[in-house]
Amino acid sequence: MDLKEAIYTRRSIRAYERKPVEKAVVRELIEAAVQAPCGMAAQAWSFAVIEDAELLADLDARTKTFMLGMIESVPPLERYRPILEDPGFRIMFGAPVLVLVCARPDVSPSAETDCALAAENLMLAARGHGLGTCWMGFVELYLESAEGRERFGIPEGHKIAAPIIVGYPAVKFTAVNRKAPDLLFWK
Ligand SMILES: Cc1cc2nc3c(=O)[nH]c(=O)nc-3n(C[C@H](O)[C@H](O)[C@H](O)COP(=O)(O)O)c2cc1C
Repeated sequence: MDLKEAIYTRRSIRAYERKPVEKAVVRELIEAAVQAPCGMAAQAWSFAVIEDAELLADLDARTKTFMLGMIESVPPLERYRPILEDPGFRIMFGAPVLVLVCARPDVSPSAETDCALAAENLMLAARGHGLGTCWMGFVELYLESAEGRERFGIPEGHKIAAPIIVGYPAVKFTAVNRKAPDLLFWK
């Protein structure tokens, strides 16, 4: 796929087919991720993959419970209460794969920024394979909790920087209109 088409039609996908993603393809996406630029060429990133359906369902349910528990201290989250309380709602939308891009802040001060770039590479590479992705900010919050880190075996020194779900989309990729770029100056 043409790079421009991949960039313009990558979308956060929130509905997935019940079709597994081949391991070799997931590896290819991770290979694409590590082609990203990185401060000091430190490559201060690590990757973890969860594709076990039971583990994913467990993570989904625990993230919802964790987020519900946060609402009182973070009032803007109140608008998510209805979906978080809906037992049928899957916070990871039933995606078959979750890739965790993990930063090593002890290795490089720009580790988290580097991981965001790696994540975008991964998402664009996925688009090229006809795969959908979505960054899972809520899952990041849970996995970074003491319980989440322990239960899902996140090693010390690794910060969850970008949890990305991956799967075959059950919806079409569509281009969207963005606001025109806010160009501050061009001297
Ligand atoms: C840091 C970050 C966290 C995000 N967290 C979530 C999330 O928890 N759940 C979700 O459905 N989408 C999440 N998204 C996706 C955004 O909602 C999405 O990128 C935005 O609405 C723009 O849509 P697009 O990706 O289709 O262009 C997140 C995106 C980023 C960059």
